[in-house]
Amino acid sequence: MSVQQENIKSSEEIYKKISKFVPDVEWKIHQPLIEKINKLKKEKNAIILAHNYQTPEIYHGVADIAADSLALAVEASKTKADKIIMCGVHFMAETAKLMSPNKKVFLPDMKAGCSLSTSITGEDVRMLKQKYPGVPVVSYVNTSADVKAETDVCCTSANAVKVVESLNVDKVIFLPDQYLADYVSKNTKVKIISWKGTCIVHERFSAKEIEDIKKQNPGIKVIAHPECPPDVIKASDFTGSTSGMINYVKDKQPKKVMLVTECSMSDNVEADNPNVSFIKPCNLCPYMKKIDLKKILDCLENETNEILLDDKTIEAARKSVIRMTEIGR
Ligand code: 13P
Ligand code: SF4
Repeated sequence: MSVQQENIKSSEEIYKKISKFVPDVEWKIHQPLIEKINKLKKEKNAIILAHNYQTPEIYHGVADIAADSLALAVEASKTKADKIIMCGVHFMAETAKLMSPNKKVFLPDMKAGCSLSTSITGEDVRMLKQKYPGVPVVSYVNTSADVKAETDVCCTSANAVKVVESLNVDKVIFLPDQYLADYVSKNTKVKIISWKGTCIVHERFSAKEIEDIKKQNPGIKVIAHPECPPDVIKASDFTGSTSGMINYVKDKQPKKVMLVTECSMSDNVEADNPNVSFIKPCNLCPYMKKIDLKKILDCLENETNEILLDDKTIEAARKSVIRMTEIGR
């Protein structure tokens, strides 16, 4: 699921929405950049896609679409824009390039990586395929194009179980997140062969932290991302992808909620749900936070940081992503 941001809001409207999270002194720096970006993206027929973990001035200020990683991949394939600016991390921009190889895709900072993506290489996958001949490979979209090129089908946290079951086999190699693999194995009869990757943001939450918050806030709903460790998921009331979490809050309007995930998401969701009170554990993704308005403007003005992939990699990696989007959520 993606959130289509209202088209070109005035600066006043944007600030009204995010003033609780962006101090006035910072807004004075953001405002002229937001105005320039929103003007230039139209002139250059560019679309700004943003992940739900981007900061409020990006999510509410300049994004055309804000979404989870599955919807970002789908939107990248559907857009009529000539250029895509991906406000997220490297694997998201690469995935957009795989979905739309003829478009120019930019990532405002090439150092915006991901601990899951760097936990495994194409060579590692080839080694696993030799060890488990004939067993299909399902890779989390949080992987490099080289890994995707060795993959049968990708998945995201929004459709991991559905993707695994779509293969109609009794065993799959599931890469690289050991906690997402554990979550999937608890929700399917298919045997899961996992890897040892983790997300540095979600692995830091603990069940004790959640139990303490629940004691201090009776009635609070705790919702967790499936990249969290198993005991954290067990202690939570709901588990879902970032968009699954957003929809939970939007639809159920709990009095008080805690999103067990990256910091900025609570701010972004709170801005859209003013009647819900948020308890905010703050684990920041240092990679997502590499993206800022100045770098986005630089992409638009100077076409810096274009994602380039050779044709062979595109051809091999594209199939696994397309297959994922065809399965849907
Ligand atoms: P989603 O697919 O749920 O948006 O998650 C992406 C991600 O990187 C979470 O850490
Ligand atoms: Fe990667 Fe975790 Fe950051 Fe998502 S939050 S980009 S999985 S390091």
